[in-house]
Formats: sequence, C-alpha cells, structure tokens
Amino acid sequence: LNKDVIDGLAIWAQEWGNPSSIHQSGRGAKTLIREARNNFAKMINAQGLEVVFTGGGSESNNMALKGVFSAIRTQKNINFFEQNRNELLISAVEHPSIMKVAEALILEGYVVKKIPVNREGKIDLDFFAKALSEKTALVSVMYANNETGHIFPIAKMVELAHEVGAYFHCDAVQALGKAPIDVKKWNVDLASFSAHKFYALKGCGALYHKKGIISDALIHGGAQERSRRAGTENILGISALGKMAERFKEIDEKSINVKELRLFLEEKLKQEIDGLEILGESSKRLPNTTNAFIEGIDGETLLINLDIEGISVSTGAACSSGSSEPSPVLLAMGYKVTEAQKSLRLSLGWGTTRQELEIFVKTLKTLVKRIRDLYTHSN
Ligand SMILES: Cc1ncc(COP(=O)(O)O)c(C=O)c1O
Repeated sequence: LNKDVIDGLAIWAQEWGNPSSIHQSGRGAKTLIREARNNFAKMINAQGLEVVFTGGGSESNNMALKGVFSAIRTQKNINFFEQNRNELLISAVEHPSIMKVAEALILEGYVVKKIPVNREGKIDLDFFAKALSEKTALVSVMYANNETGHIFPIAKMVELAHEVGAYFHCDAVQALGKAPIDVKKWNVDLASFSAHKFYALKGCGALYHKKGIISDALIHGGAQERSRRAGTENILGISALGKMAERFKEIDEKSINVKELRLFLEEKLKQEIDGLEILGESSKRLPNTTNAFIEGIDGETLLINLDIEGISVSTGAACSSGSSEPSPVLLAMGYKVTEAQKSLRLSLGWGTTRQELEIFVKTLKTLVKRIRDLYTHSN
C-alpha cells in the first residue's frame, strides 16, 4: 500500500454518509467519488462518465463480456442482434476471469475462438486477422499477461477488430502503474482495471466503457454509476484508487527505474545460476515481471524455500496458487507440463531496491545448489 493511501484512509472514512443521500454527509462522500472519477479518467485519457467503478478486475472483465452478449440477446444492441453476431475472440492466455466467462458463453450457445500465443509470448496476428469476421461481436485481449509479462499489440488489434465492426475489450489490469495508459490512443471500447495492482486497495477496480457502446449491467439494482453498477459505492477503495491516479505523471519514471532493476536482476540470475532461462526474454514485456525456468527444479520447491527465507515469489497466477497444477497459461503457450512446473514468477515494485535483488540472487543460488546436491545424493 502506498503511504498516501494509508494516510488518506482515516480522512476518507470520516465521510460516513451514503453518497446517494442528499444531506451534507452524503454530499461529502459523493464529492470523494467525483474527484476520484475525474483523477482516474484523466490518468487513462477518458471522460469521467466513461468510468464505472467496480469490485475489481474480475468484476470488470465479467461485466464487459457478459454485458456485451446480454445486450445482443436482449436486443438492446439491435444492430449486432440483426447481424447475428455471436462470436467472441480471446487470446489463449487470458486470466481466469475471462476464460471462465468464455466457457459460460459457450454453454449459452455463443462461439469462442482462441488466438494462439507462442513460446516466446507473441500472439498470432495472422490467425487473428483470419478469425475476424462479420460474425465477431467482441474481441477480448489482455494488455499484458500476468504470469509472463508479455505485452500484446493492442492498438493494432483494435484496428483490425473495428474493420469488421466488432467491439474490443482489453483486460488492462496488469498495465496499471507499469505502463502509460491511453484508452483513446488504443481506441478500445472497454477496458478493465484493478486498484490493488496500483498500490491502492483490494476489492476495487474500474471498467472503461466508451461513450455509445451498448452493453448491459452485471449488477442490477439502484442507479449508482449511472445504473451501470448498482450498490452503495466502496468509498475507501474508490478514493484510494483516485489518490494513486493523481500520481500518473510519475509512472513513466518509475517504470524506467523498475525496468533497469529487472534487467539487472535477469543479468545477475543468468550469471550466477546454471541452467536458468528467462521465458520469452526478447519479446516485449512489462517492466516489472520475469518468469524464469531453472533446470531440474520445480518452481514450487523454490517458492516454499524462498518463503522460509522471507522472500515472496510466485509460480503460476496468484489466483490458482494453492494447487500444484501447472500454469494453464504456459501450457497454452506450448510448454510441456514438466517445463511449466519449473516456472518461477518474480515481480518487482516501485519500492524494490538493487540491494534486495542482490540478496535475492544470493539466496536463490544457495537454495538451488542445496536442492541440486540433495537430488544428486538421493539418486
Ligand atoms: C490480468 C488480470 N486480469 C484480471 C485480474 C483480476 O483482478 P482482481 O483480482 O482485482 O479481481 C488479475 C489479477 O491478478 C489479472 O492479473
């Protein structure tokens, strides 16, 4: 959590009124939401009215996909209904909050096509161009993958999708705070964000909903968020996100710094540890994410041992941890189960220091040696 957010919490909590109430304390809470909306909209280059605050990235993703297909089914989007647009195109490496919705849409009779992503993390643009047609209602492709950090060419893909008249949704959850975001430049119709990726609170997010795009609400009830998302607003979560959004001008500088540290880490890892490979190293990646394979050692074994040393790393997506299943993302990229099990995901933040990375590499080197020695003696 950012210090500005921690300090702000006690102040924002004093606005105890319901933002839908007309009395003074309600108006105070409403002002907080308005300010946060304007700050957030400015950061992503949207208008305030195009921002819908949600309960996080998963909800934003659900709202985008289910909302578009619901509006076709209920004939609110009469054009798409009459054109019989019934196809969804997604990448093969989307987050479960897209994958699971796609599975549900298949059960409802819609057609879902998955765009392949290769071992280097590159999306197959030829496949994409061929799969697009006047049947495509929606394309949903993430800005960057949460496990590998690989970035996809969103603006180019939006152009192709719009040529056939389809809508484009981008799961931009991983972009927040790591890359400049300009929804107008990308020209996307819908985009999802999550506050906790940006040092704000968990359980809050936003959906960019371009003016004129026809989609249904996910949560029905009161008229909050212009009837796009019913329910009394999460004032603390929204204010925290708005507070961080004020700092959008710092993102470029912070990202350059984080990228330098990541390159330093990767060089050191390759120097110090035999049989270490960085997944899709030469492809375009987020500044803060490294996914490394270490020959002969499971990522999970390292995760547990590093945790004992007080260092937090990850294997697959955080959402699927707790299970020892290999990452579906890596399997979709063509890695074998035994390869995917070696994956170790390392994430850097605005506060990471060179000294911490040096300690990390030293610790990892010792652990790798110890585990390899153990394997040699037990064989
Ligand atoms: C790419 C991506 N999309 C969606 C989500 C879900 O966001 P949330 O945890 O806020 O629901 C995540 C979470 O890590 C993510 O990495």
